[in-house]
Amino acid sequence: MHKILIKNIQQLVQVRETGLHPIKGIDMSELPSISDAWLAIENDIIVGYGKMEEWPGISDWSHLEVIDASGKIVFPTYCDSHTHIVFAGTRESEFVDRINGLSYEEIALRGGGIINSAKKMQTANEEELYKGALLRINEMVLQGTGAIEIKSGYGLSLADELKMLRVIKKLKETLSIPIKSTFLGAHAIPPEFKENRQAYIDLIINEMLPAIANEQLADYSDVFCERNYFTPEETLLILKAAKQYGIAAKVHAEQLSNSGGVLAGVKADAISVDHLEYVGDEEIAALLGSDTMPVILPGAAFFLSLPNPPAKKMIQAGLPLAIASDFNPGSSPSGNLNLMNAIACIQYGLTPEQTINASTLNGAYAMGLINDYGSITIGKKANFVITKEIPSMAYLPYAFGSNLIEQVYINGKLFKGF
Ligand code: NIG
Ligand code: FE
Repeated sequence: MHKILIKNIQQLVQVRETGLHPIKGIDMSELPSISDAWLAIENDIIVGYGKMEEWPGISDWSHLEVIDASGKIVFPTYCDSHTHIVFAGTRESEFVDRINGLSYEEIALRGGGIINSAKKMQTANEEELYKGALLRINEMVLQGTGAIEIKSGYGLSLADELKMLRVIKKLKETLSIPIKSTFLGAHAIPPEFKENRQAYIDLIINEMLPAIANEQLADYSDVFCERNYFTPEETLLILKAAKQYGIAAKVHAEQLSNSGGVLAGVKADAISVDHLEYVGDEEIAALLGSDTMPVILPGAAFFLSLPNPPAKKMIQAGLPLAIASDFNPGSSPSGNLNLMNAIACIQYGLTPEQTINASTLNGAYAMGLINDYGSITIGKKANFVITKEIPSMAYLPYAFGSNLIEQVYINGKLFKGF
């Protein structure tokens, strides 16, 4: 048995006795922490914590690794519930087009955007896709992330959606962090279906979903509900079809306009609705009566210069909130949740406490992992971050340009790269 004792932790953050429920409303301002703390790990599980002055001691010192975390902060790894990190080729030329005055939607209408990534996907093979995703995952883990959801959606054909999902499956099988797989065939209408969108929706429902269910390739299904993409009615149709295979829903909602994604998601019992820049009172009211997690993606809003999502308003209304990276080549080429949290603090007025609740425990809920991840809880997996020496947790979003993550432990082992 491998045992670790981390002692003299300046602050042990996000300590929860049960940690089985998302954090909502006013409770999001509270981040339970222990100062001058110890944390004990056995193999891959958290087995104890407390204040240094109350440390019970240990009878068996064999196989025990002791780590001194003086001046450092320990918190659970981030749970990134929304990414598109399996992709072929980057899109910095579109970034330059936007600097020169085109909008994200104008670029998409010219055949750029998601369709551009789908073209690149057609010629990519599984091995190179796997390698590219692995590089991104290694970078993300070193930045503090210990659980990742990954979407398909750059395939837009049966063969290429399956190809993406098989790559995600291989990542799941070969890596020791939890990965959740989301089928996003309804990410855009492929050009060859422009005049017959119903045929593409039929393809999703009648061919893609059965094949995906048959190979057990998806934990969730997702739809980009937006003008020029999929309507709320189409969204519901696709999510309902997926549900018949036991695949739960997620929705890309209210990103570029108020287009009904949240209401469709709530109707479909979605585990999360994501983006939310154009959320209004009606959406907030619907979410209040649901178990659906609202997820904001500050990287995409920042990168595309979108309006801020009403994050504070949602919390004030009593909602929970999660933060994810949306790591993808078109709208958020970063998986750094430290940065996403900083944007949420600086631009949306969230407190550092709210952002940590959003990116750990609530993120875990938004990807069905709350039982084992997202908090320092006895019995949960030992996935945690040790920071560099920093004065306080608020220093993390404050010093937004610095890399303050010193070490990341995955399943009780120091992460050195996959
Ligand atoms: O989450 N909003 C739709 N989908 C992605 C962007 C995909 C892309 O531009 O490649 C998103 O922002
Ligand atoms: Fe996305």
